[in-house]
Amino acid sequence: MVSSAATFSSPSEEAFRRSIADRTAVVGVVGLGYVGLPLAMAFAGAGFSVYGVDLDEHKIQRLRRGESYILDVERSTVAEAVSAERFHAETRFEVLAKADVIFVCVPTPFDRAKNPDLSYIVNAASGIAPVLRRGQLIILESTTYPGTTEEILIPILEQSGLKAGSDFHVAFSPERIDPGNRRFGIENTPKVVGGVDLESTERAALVLEQVVAKGKVHRVSTPRAAELTKLLENTFRAVNIALVNELAVLCDRMGIDVWEVIEAAKTKPYGFMPFYPGPGVGGHCIPVDPYYLSWKAREFDFSTKFIELAAETNRQMPFFAVAKLRRLLHERGAALRGARVLALGAAFKKDIDDARNSAAIRVIEILRHEGADVAYHDPFVPAIALRDGIYGEGDMSERLTSVDLTNEAVAAADCVLILVGHSRIDYRGVVDAARFVFDVVNATQDVAPASGKVARI
Ligand SMILES: NC(=O)c1ccc[n+]([C@@H]2O[C@H](COP(=O)([O-])OP(=O)(O)OC[C@H]3O[C@@H](n4cnc5c(N)ncnc54)[C@H](O)[C@@H]3O)[C@@H](O)[C@H]2O)c1
Repeated sequence: MVSSAATFSSPSEEAFRRSIADRTAVVGVVGLGYVGLPLAMAFAGAGFSVYGVDLDEHKIQRLRRGESYILDVERSTVAEAVSAERFHAETRFEVLAKADVIFVCVPTPFDRAKNPDLSYIVNAASGIAPVLRRGQLIILESTTYPGTTEEILIPILEQSGLKAGSDFHVAFSPERIDPGNRRFGIENTPKVVGGVDLESTERAALVLEQVVAKGKVHRVSTPRAAELTKLLENTFRAVNIALVNELAVLCDRMGIDVWEVIEAAKTKPYGFMPFYPGPGVGGHCIPVDPYYLSWKAREFDFSTKFIELAAETNRQMPFFAVAKLRRLLHERGAALRGARVLALGAAFKKDIDDARNSAAIRVIEILRHEGADVAYHDPFVPAIALRDGIYGEGDMSERLTSVDLTNEAVAAADCVLILVGHSRIDYRGVVDAARFVFDVVNATQDVAPASGKVARI
């Protein structure tokens, strides 16, 4: 391991710094999804030549045509980068031989037993190893458990015969991108980085500083600390969302408006941060990442009780939403079985097109299992696949396509069920046209008070 400060002034270090400053350093990005594509565009925009590699031929073809398939990445951004020859989309890993810095942004899902599935990282590392060369810097960005960089990534890269720390550099830097967030993007969100040695950390920080506002890169001592930082952030969200979801269930029983309580608590200027209840948590991060930590903790004879409890609480929310809807319909003299329900929203959160692990879809699956006649509308998600088992274990059995949000469709429904609060939906129009609205996410807060017509979670 090379860790002395003297290495910073080594000829190779100087040359690396110069190549970053004059933009002759070449950047590679493996995995061009929600994380990798914006990152690739940020470096292309900063004047670097970028090689993006993805196994998905369809995505590569679209990128080569200058198209974007990510909502937060403008088509013009991709088109400009491609036409200026600052961005090259490839399926072959060989092109990464040209790269001085390689980011790895591949998925880290879990398997059916909720164990980490690191096969994408393993495959990406196996693709890089044959082209790895002296002096390259590899930065893993995929969310994962502490130890992945050193226990999984590096041993595969070292099959090249080169040694991490002395021959090539390795760091972990967790991705914090928040799709749909108009306020915080790559440029103004601080990054955390931890390398296998000081030189790896410094090189990675220097690279990241080119796209993150200067001074906003926070160094930690090891990749493990950086890996755990990301899991702390996501676990923090999972636990707090679970807390407020539990409170929502209690408020329902006590006849207290949970939204009113949160608004009131928010007035405290310190020591409180608002989280909101809903149909459960979705996406590839909050319901997934904490399990990575639980899994790793078991190796240390440790059980992460908060994580398990939060996951269990959040998993019950789709069932609670359906149970409450059944009761609300019953109070109105109707049954859930056979009820026409128009669900608004299928994405895993507002203003995005990503429906992976969506709690809204979970609610729709349970409703259909209970005999409700469900249609859905989502301006960002044209079609969804439903499983035939309500416990998410069944096969994808059915596809639903988004219906148009017309006054007729709204009026025809026994209940309009708001599951995602997309900003572009006219909630006033929905409330006006609907016979009954069950709003699980408080999307109607500014247009309608809770009433006989509008109920909230
Ligand atoms: N999406 C987010 O908001 C977000 C935020 C923070 C962290 N993360 C983490 O970042 C990682 C990537 O997430 P994402 O949302 O971008 O996933 P994604 O599915 O959108 O993109 C991953 C891409 O990697 C490609 N890929 C898979 N295996 C590959 C391989 N061996 N070689 C080359 N390409 C390969 C896939 O085709 C896909 O295009 C995950 O670990 C995720 O947890 C995601």
